[in-house]
Amino acid sequence: MIEDIRAIVAEEFGQVNDLIVNQLRSDVDMVESVGHYIVAAGGKRLRPLLALLAAKALGGVGEAHIKFAAVIEFIHTATLLHDDVVDISSLRRGRPTANEAFGNAPSVLVGDFMYTRAFQLMVQLGDLTLLHHMANTTNIIAEGEVLQLVRAGDATINESQYREVIERKTAILFAAACRGAAILCGATEQQQALHDYGLHLGIAFQMIDDVLDYTGNPAETGKNIGDDLNEGKTTLPLIHVLNTGSKSDRELVFEALQNKSSERLVDVIAAVARCKGTEYTTEQALHHRHMAKAALMDLSDSKAKTALADLADLAVSRHH
Ligand code: IPE
Ligand code: IPE
Ligand code: MG
Ligand code: MG
Repeated sequence: MIEDIRAIVAEEFGQVNDLIVNQLRSDVDMVESVGHYIVAAGGKRLRPLLALLAAKALGGVGEAHIKFAAVIEFIHTATLLHDDVVDISSLRRGRPTANEAFGNAPSVLVGDFMYTRAFQLMVQLGDLTLLHHMANTTNIIAEGEVLQLVRAGDATINESQYREVIERKTAILFAAACRGAAILCGATEQQQALHDYGLHLGIAFQMIDDVLDYTGNPAETGKNIGDDLNEGKTTLPLIHVLNTGSKSDRELVFEALQNKSSERLVDVIAAVARCKGTEYTTEQALHHRHMAKAALMDLSDSKAKTALADLADLAVSRHH
């Protein structure tokens, strides 16, 4: 249970949440209204949790880690604001997306505010190695989203091209949350292990997200199904149909992707079920869960380390 995992860093987690809310402060009303709108909707706060647990597993959570964890959530929230505009999504965290509630322009611009606020906070941390690392990370995320955009509607995308996109757009931030915590601990030797853990966890997490985009319950995920199909995203459940399905299933998926249309969502879901696309994608996610846990091997045993391993389980068993 995520609550049990959070309990290990409960006090610090509360501090991070307070800091996130405080740092939304702006003289421009719209920044605060859009910012609070998405932040107050909740979200799992998985990435800051990772940063705190990684710090704890390496010896202890300091003031700098609290700030860094908030930075990571700010960057994540900025990508969500932008992503929902690009994906034309209308539901997030169980309520209308910011673009639906306020419009595209406010979402994009407040997303920029959050990105830049994150860098202001990082400068306060005064760690050039961290700054260097996070500058690269955010650049890769931006590139990942662009790469996904240019590949939209392309039904010839293969598994390795798919992984390339999800590593960049999602997994790299999970990796940065963990590695950044290690940098701030001065734990040079463990940086790579934590990076690898976060990267594999992030890949598994996105693979399950891509399953939930077809099979999820909006009441649990807080998001609509079919968004990926509507954007022509060639995700793993569909790649599996394209690789193994009957001629008619392959044609169905190929055309839906090319048309970037969820008009035949029900049929596509049936095709995914026939080809066991969910099972296949979950198997791949389980492999990355295994890799994530294996990366933790050299860390000394602690409650926080166990919690990190549990989070890897949660990433693949989640329904939201
Ligand atoms: C959503 O991330 C974006 C993906 C990488 C799939 P989360 O599922 O962590 O979103 P929140 O923060 O809990 O809403
Ligand atoms: C999330 O990808 C990646 C980023 C936000 C950078 P998705 O488009 O799959 O995420 P959801 O499903 O909208 O949360
Ligand atoms: Mg999206
Ligand atoms: Mg998704």
